Amino acid sequence: MNSPVEKIKERLSIEEVVSSYIKLEKSGANLKARCPFHNEKTPSFFISTDRGTYYCFGCGASGDIFTFVEEFEGLDFKGALKLLADRAGVQLEVYTREMKEAESEKEKLYRVMEEATLFFENNLIKNEEVLRYLKSRGLNEKSVKDFRIGFIKNDWRLLYESLKNKFSDGELEKAGLIKKTEKGYYDRFRGRIMFPINDSSGRVIAFSGRIFEDDGKSAKYLNSPETPIFSKNAVLYGIDKAKDSIRKNNFSILVEGQMDLILSHQAGYHNTVATSGTALSDSTISKEKVVSNLGLIRRLSGNLVLAFDADKAGANATIRAGKIALSLGMDVKVIEMPEGVDPADLIGKSGTEAWKEAIKNSKHIIEFLLNKVLKNSNGDMRKAGREIKTVILPFVNALESSIEKMHFIKKISDVSSIPQDALQDDLKKIEQELKYENVEIKEAKESLETMRKKDYIERKLLGIALWQKTLPTPITDFETIFGKLGNVYEKYKDAKEDLIFEAEVFYANNDKLEKSVQEMFLNLEEENINEELSKKMLELRGTKEEETGKRILQEINELNKKKENIKNGRLNNK
Ligand code: UTP
Ligand code: MN
Repeated sequence: MNSPVEKIKERLSIEEVVSSYIKLEKSGANLKARCPFHNEKTPSFFISTDRGTYYCFGCGASGDIFTFVEEFEGLDFKGALKLLADRAGVQLEVYTREMKEAESEKEKLYRVMEEATLFFENNLIKNEEVLRYLKSRGLNEKSVKDFRIGFIKNDWRLLYESLKNKFSDGELEKAGLIKKTEKGYYDRFRGRIMFPINDSSGRVIAFSGRIFEDDGKSAKYLNSPETPIFSKNAVLYGIDKAKDSIRKNNFSILVEGQMDLILSHQAGYHNTVATSGTALSDSTISKEKVVSNLGLIRRLSGNLVLAFDADKAGANATIRAGKIALSLGMDVKVIEMPEGVDPADLIGKSGTEAWKEAIKNSKHIIEFLLNKVLKNSNGDMRKAGREIKTVILPFVNALESSIEKMHFIKKISDVSSIPQDALQDDLKKIEQELKYENVEIKEAKESLETMRKKDYIERKLLGIALWQKTLPTPITDFETIFGKLGNVYEKYKDAKEDLIFEAEVFYANNDKLEKSVQEMFLNLEEENINEELSKKMLELRGTKEEETGKRILQEINELNKKKENIKNGRLNNK
């Protein structure tokens, strides 16, 4: 019998899958596109329809429909499998039954979250008061159902009592649903309206709970902690429902809260996503999170509309996210919100039309900030001038295109009467000052990409070795793979079953296994070189001595040569 992976590959061509995400052009016998995994203007992402694979000559991303969906959507292998199986109409049941006995930890946690979601949903249906509250906020029944909103009364262990016969204490704790004290376990979420957070394939991976009766001391929203299936950095609320619409409409709307998101969807804007778990305005949020969130949105569309609260925190979030988005090469607009009103309030009170109008009136982020500065300075042009320099010019600097830069310099000059030359001079100074910050953003981005790719390859290789080891007659030399990988196993111990499963469905009856392994080691080497290169670049920037500088440059050259060799070797192999 063919494995589900093979069946899916028979029914879905790589062209069909990839072209549903990005635009492809013909290039001889192959197809090409601008790579969705790194920022580029000319296409270096190629698809071989014969082999069912893709390869990017710019960043080295490579793989088949499964890896593509995993990387693009930020899913693990099973998430991608579920998504593609649904799409191809391939049943995964047989597999899930076989897997039951050896259900992996992650698999179990997904089931815990699903059961909890059902429990919360059932509790909401029975609670008229909460339903009335949701209605008063403007939510209709369909939204409540679609977003699987739930409720849990304020008691100590309602959820725990309901699930303890199905799952072990350890599992419920690991899922972030219960907490331990000397007196035993109690529920993390109590007296809250529950919003499930889904991954991009629609599986529930976390919850955000809004307090129902404010006691004046609990946080308004309480979120799941990090768990094996929930990494706060990687998740956008609503992404599963928004991704198709973002692609189709070629822009996304980024809001800050669950309520904002649901009401925006209800108003017909299904291309809305929300930062979740924590607000982007939270200054403790890492650059990595912002970059990773925006990176996922950018793969879907380069056009972004921000809609945060009009308060100080909201303004900070707009500024932070906006600047990073610009430097990722996105086009960023901002929706002006009336003082003290967020998108949920606006839609709930003034209706769909008001929201539509607000989106239509959104302004380029630089124009938006410029209006604000002019308004705040009340005609005091010296004050305006200072603010233009400190607040606005850094954004102009973040723009990628020089034409755009010129455009905004002119605009600023027009409204502020500061001569263009003076603005240009200041911009030059700022470019110098901000060089470091830009490099920082770029590095956050690159290190994230390298990390993701490296992790990915290591996991795949480790999975193959672990799987082969379980076979009576292995067809690859798994000892060598273990040896080359070194102490990687420690990192993935908990995921062992997942990795074996993944390797097995992927490579069972595959005569190209040996070749794939070789290719993966090459890719891994390339990633290691990339990592080494970033380190050397940093060193180079930090050194003032000429001799040391020369030596580092020399080393950088060597590394680049090595990289070139790997690339050439690969080309000759094709
Ligand atoms: P807000 O405080 O703006 O809440 O936080 P909101 O969305 O307007 O809430 P409603 O409309 O009164 O229900 C925005 C988002 O920040 C996160 C939540 O995701 C929230 O939706 N947040 C907020 C937290 O994670 N923790 C908090 O304590 C507060
Ligand atoms: Mn609100």
